[in-house]
Amino acid sequence: MGPVSIHAAASPFPGEWIPVLTGDGSFTLDNAQLQEHYHSVFGAATESRHVYITNGLHRSGGRNVKVLEVGLGTGLNALLTWMACRTGVLEVEYLGLEPFPVAPSLLAAVDHARAVGRPELREDFEAMMAAPEDRTWSHPDGFTFRWIRTPVQELDLEEAVDVVYFDAFAPSVQPAMWTVDVFTRIHKAMRPGAVLATYCAQGEARRAMEAAGMVTERIPGPPGKRQMLVAYRR
Ligand SMILES: C[S@@+](CC[C@H](N)C(=O)[O-])C[C@H]1O[C@@H](n2cnc3c(N)ncnc32)[C@H](O)[C@@H]1O
Repeated sequence: MGPVSIHAAASPFPGEWIPVLTGDGSFTLDNAQLQEHYHSVFGAATESRHVYITNGLHRSGGRNVKVLEVGLGTGLNALLTWMACRTGVLEVEYLGLEPFPVAPSLLAAVDHARAVGRPELREDFEAMMAAPEDRTWSHPDGFTFRWIRTPVQELDLEEAVDVVYFDAFAPSVQPAMWTVDVFTRIHKAMRPGAVLATYCAQGEARRAMEAAGMVTERIPGPPGKRQMLVAYRR
């Protein structure tokens, strides 16, 4: 028997994910049955830049930054993080959690490299997303990438990361991602002073983060969303 594709895991979510165009010309995946999408329909790339790059990565202020992403999905946040790297100026070690990897055909359809204006990165980006689980993939720009299937509910890191991109499906769709237990694990994984960014601004999510020991702040969100959350470990 030949090797089994690393992307073979079936999604636990009902319905079908379909590529759809968003307000800024970038694509996301939409699931009509779940009434959920991977990014904002007002602009997937615009949302990722605002929430995760400006208010996650750049809030850390370091030159060698360790990023943990909860929900790697189509890799848009990883691509934008890689694009922000420059050897000797900002270098990132990226760890993505993704129990249900997106099929390569869907990654090709959303074509994030084109959407973010860097079509020449397409092949490298596809190679990165096709990297086997837990194998480090590096780019000379100063970007090192690894992904693992570990669900966030089993995360077990200690003072290991500077920035967390918390990009789970909405609390209404996947409430098990927004619990005090999950945020306690993330809090433990964060170094003192580390920052978490998420598109979600809901009070229940905020209270779960605070119960886990984080200090939270509501700040202006991306287009179509009044607010988002950042949270710090003291
Ligand atoms: C909103 S999407 C992420 C979008 C992604 N950051 C992107 O740029 O495409 C949520 C992701 O969380 C993943 N996910 C679901 N359950 C998870 C779990 N228990 N732990 C970590 N990630 C999970 C889903 O498979 C999905 O890819």
